[in-house]
Amino acid sequence: MCGIVGYVGEKLATDVILEGLQKLEYRGYDSSGVAILGSGKLKFRKIAGRLSNLISSVEENPVEGTIGIGHTRWATHGAPSDVNAHPHTNEDGTIAVVHNGIIENYMTLKNELIEKGYNFESDTDTEIVAKLLDMYYEGDLLQAVFKMVKRLKGAYALGIVSSNNPDELIAVRKESPLILGVGDDELFVASDIPAILNRTRKVIYLENNDIVKLTREGYTIYNVDRNVVEREVKEILWDVEAATKEGYDHFMIKEINQQSSVIKDTLFRRLDDKGNIYLENVNIDSKYLTTINKIYIVACGTAYHAGLIGKHILEKFLNLHVIIDIASEFRYGNNFVDDKTLMIVVSQSGETADTLAALRLAKSKGARILSITNVVGSTVARESDDIFYTWAGPEIAVASTKAYTTQLTAFYMISLYFGKLKGTLGDEIYNEILSELKSLPAKVKAAIEESEKVAREIAEKIKNKRSLFYIGRGLDYYTAMEGALKLKEISYIQAEAFAAGELKHGSIALIEKDTPVIAIATQRDLYEKTVSNIKEVKARGAYTIGITRVSNKDLENVCDSVIYLDETYDIFMPLLSVISPQLLAYYAAVERGNDVDKPRNLAKSVTVE
Ligand code: M6R
Repeated sequence: MCGIVGYVGEKLATDVILEGLQKLEYRGYDSSGVAILGSGKLKFRKIAGRLSNLISSVEENPVEGTIGIGHTRWATHGAPSDVNAHPHTNEDGTIAVVHNGIIENYMTLKNELIEKGYNFESDTDTEIVAKLLDMYYEGDLLQAVFKMVKRLKGAYALGIVSSNNPDELIAVRKESPLILGVGDDELFVASDIPAILNRTRKVIYLENNDIVKLTREGYTIYNVDRNVVEREVKEILWDVEAATKEGYDHFMIKEINQQSSVIKDTLFRRLDDKGNIYLENVNIDSKYLTTINKIYIVACGTAYHAGLIGKHILEKFLNLHVIIDIASEFRYGNNFVDDKTLMIVVSQSGETADTLAALRLAKSKGARILSITNVVGSTVARESDDIFYTWAGPEIAVASTKAYTTQLTAFYMISLYFGKLKGTLGDEIYNEILSELKSLPAKVKAAIEESEKVAREIAEKIKNKRSLFYIGRGLDYYTAMEGALKLKEISYIQAEAFAAGELKHGSIALIEKDTPVIAIATQRDLYEKTVSNIKEVKARGAYTIGITRVSNKDLENVCDSVIYLDETYDIFMPLLSVISPQLLAYYAAVERGNDVDKPRNLAKSVTVE
C-alpha cells in the first residue's frame, strides 16, 4: 500500500499535495516525494523516512508550480531510500510517475528495457513505468499512457506528469484504489478520500482500467480502448477521521476485514504463469534443502504463534526436524545451530529486538536466515539471506491480525515450495494442496461475515468476566494461544490457552460456574477427544463456546454457542479458526471502552530486549 495525491489548479501544488499526503500516511510512511510542474519545468523532491522529512525539505527549498503529483511509500520492491522513493522518472527527467500497487511482470519489462539501452537507478517496479512511457512518448502523454498500460500486468494506480505536456496530469487505475476529486476550478486525484476532503466533497470513484486526463479546463475519463466513459460524481458526507478508517470505527476491525484481500495478494502475486509458487527473494535450491539437518523458527508474540503452525506444516511437507523457540529465550539454551541450520525468523515489523538478537546469534553460528516480514528494508530483512514479504500493507493497530494470517500464508507457501523442490511432495499432492490454498481468501471472507454477529453476542456476555479459557488440540491449540493473546492485550480480560488434554492435569481446577471456555475443534482426528474435554468443563458449570467445521453440528449438544467454519483441509483450518477469536477480542475491548488500537502498556514495535 502506498498513497498518491495529484493536483491540477491555480494553488501552490506542494501545499495541496503535502496536506493530502499527511492524511495518507496510514497507507505508507517509509519515504515520500513530489514532482511539480512550474514554468514548464518538472521539479522533484524525494526523501527516505517519514513525511515530515519531505515537508522540511520543501520548506527549506520550495518547489513552485500549480500541477503536481506526490507519494508516500510502503515499500514492496526495493528498500526505503531516497533513490527508491517516488516519483520515478525517465532518464532526462521529463516524465515523472507515482505508483501504488505491484507491477507483476516488471522483471520481464525491465530486461526488455535494459536491452533497448535504458538504465535503471532504483530497485522499484515503478521505474519501468517511467521508462516505458519514455519509449512510447511521441509528443502526446495520453497516447503514450494508452500504449504503456497494455504492457503492464498486476495492480496499479498511477499519477503521471511530463514537462513536455505541462498543462496536464494523467492518472490510471487498475485494482489499486484511486479517486478523482472535483473542486471549483481545480481537480485532484488520490488513493483515498481523506487526502482531498478538506478541498472538495465531490468525488468520482474511478473504476478498473480507467485512464483520466486532468487539465485546468476539466477532466476526461477513458477506458483502455481509448473510448470516453462517464462516471458519476458522488457527494461525500463523512468526516476525515471516519474516512481514514474507511468507515470502520478502529484500524483493528478494518485490518481484520482486510484479511481476505491481503492473503490473496500474498498468495496470488507469487504464482508464475503455470500457477506454481515462485518466491522471488528466496534463493534456496534443492541441493541446499537436502544438505540441512534442521530448521529453526524464532519469533515473538503473534509471530511466534504463526511459527508454531509453520513448524507443523514444514515438518509434514519436508520430512525434516523443525525446532521453534520464543526469540527472547533462544539465547539461553544450547540451541545446536550450525551451518546446516536454516533459521526462519518471523516478524511483522522486522525491528523486534529479541528477534534480531536471535537472528544475529544464529547467523554468527553459520545458519542461513530466511525471514518472513511485512516491512521492506526493515533490519530483519536487511540482515537475512532470503526474504518472504507478507504484503499485508501497514498494520496500524497494535494487535496483530492481518500480519498473522499473511504469516500463516507465507508458511503454507514456503512449505509447499520447499516440499516440491526437495521432492518430499509429489506433483499431484502439491497441485491439490495449492489449489485448496487458492480457495482460502474466499473462505476467510465468509468466516469474517459469519462470525461477526456471534462474536458481538459473545463479547456482550463475557465483557465483565475476570477470566476466560481457550482450549484445543494440535493446530487448534496454537490458534487457542493466539486467541488468548488477542483477548488479553486489548480487552484486558485474563485469558489462557490450554492444550485440551492437559486440563485434567491441574488447570481444570480453575473452572467454576459460568467460566467462559472457548473450544477450537477443527482437526478431524482430534475432534472426538476435544469434545470429551468440552464435556469435562461443561460438567463443572462452564459457559462453553465452540469453533468448528460446518459439518460438526453435534457440537451444539455440548456448547452454549457454536461458530461454524467452511470445510477445508485440517492444515488450513488455522486461517479460518482465528477469525472469530480476533473479532471476539475486538468487540470485548469495544464493550469495555478500551483504546482498541493502542492498548495500555504496549507498543506496535518492541525495540527493547
Ligand atoms: O513485529 P513483530 O512481528 O516482530 O512483533 C512481535 C510481537 O511483538 C507482536 O506479534 C505482538 O505479539 C502483537 N502485538 C500481538 O498482537
